[in-house]
Amino acid sequence: MKVTVVGAGAVGASCAEYIAIKNFASEVVLLDIKEGYAEGKAMDLMQCASLNGFDTKITGITNDYSKTANSDICVITSGIPRKPGMTREELIGINAGIVKSVSSSLIEHSPNTVLIVVSNPMDTMTYLVHKSTNLPKHKIIGMGGALDSARFKYRLAEALQAPISDVDGMVIGGHSDTGMVPLTSHATRNSIKVSEFLSKDRLQQVAEDTKVGGATLTKLLGTSAWYAPGAAVSGLVQAIACDQKKMFPCSTYLEGEYGLNDICIGVPVILGRNGIESIVNIELSAAEKAHMKESAEGVRKTNGLLDV
Ligand code: 2OP
Repeated sequence: MKVTVVGAGAVGASCAEYIAIKNFASEVVLLDIKEGYAEGKAMDLMQCASLNGFDTKITGITNDYSKTANSDICVITSGIPRKPGMTREELIGINAGIVKSVSSSLIEHSPNTVLIVVSNPMDTMTYLVHKSTNLPKHKIIGMGGALDSARFKYRLAEALQAPISDVDGMVIGGHSDTGMVPLTSHATRNSIKVSEFLSKDRLQQVAEDTKVGGATLTKLLGTSAWYAPGAAVSGLVQAIACDQKKMFPCSTYLEGEYGLNDICIGVPVILGRNGIESIVNIELSAAEKAHMKESAEGVRKTNGLLDV
């Protein structure tokens, strides 16, 4: 199993680290445009192998896509990250050009790859890959919902004063401060709806804190987060590599599902060896449906800035 991660910045290196630590891939190629940077990160990570007990071989490459040939899964993290006060949408000008050229170079060398898009604004970058390459739609996956759901569970556990392993919940919709749709009506603690334990106002607060999860960290760190994004990507990569048929909310191209067409946005999907094995339709409350519609309008507005 060969996995390529493009971008050896904090998010890309974290992806490579978590993939290696989970020890299911034989090879991870880390590629960056900055001379020697990916090689350095790869060497540092490889020196963790005996300490952390993994056998995955991590190789660092400066901009030579021939070394990524025949990757089963490719992850695009390249582009500029958010600075405090910036929205993900503001990154489109620079990141669209980068994602277009990176995806085309990856597919040239790995025509059968499953491609995971992390660069922001993620739903629009996923749509761009869909529009500008010939990769089938089930092989183009946007990573946002898995991360947003992890942040939702963190906030739920905090509100419930419960361990995170007690809590389950999912965030669908666009990966943006206003577009996320935390499914509070479906969230549970040990299969009991969290609304049994939390007031409407407290649940609303959990949803609001979840939606600005990335912005909160960007303000604290001065740049966007990397540990949870890396861990979330590694979960998707593992589900695909190990054909787990696990459910995650991911950004995928919709053709009528959830009443939406010609858009990539977060919905629950089953991930396996073919990438997106199926899209899962769940019943949303009236409020969640309205929120999803608004979220799609926001994503479409950003898609409108693309030159495709
Ligand atoms: C985040 O929310 C990187 O978009 C990512 O932290």
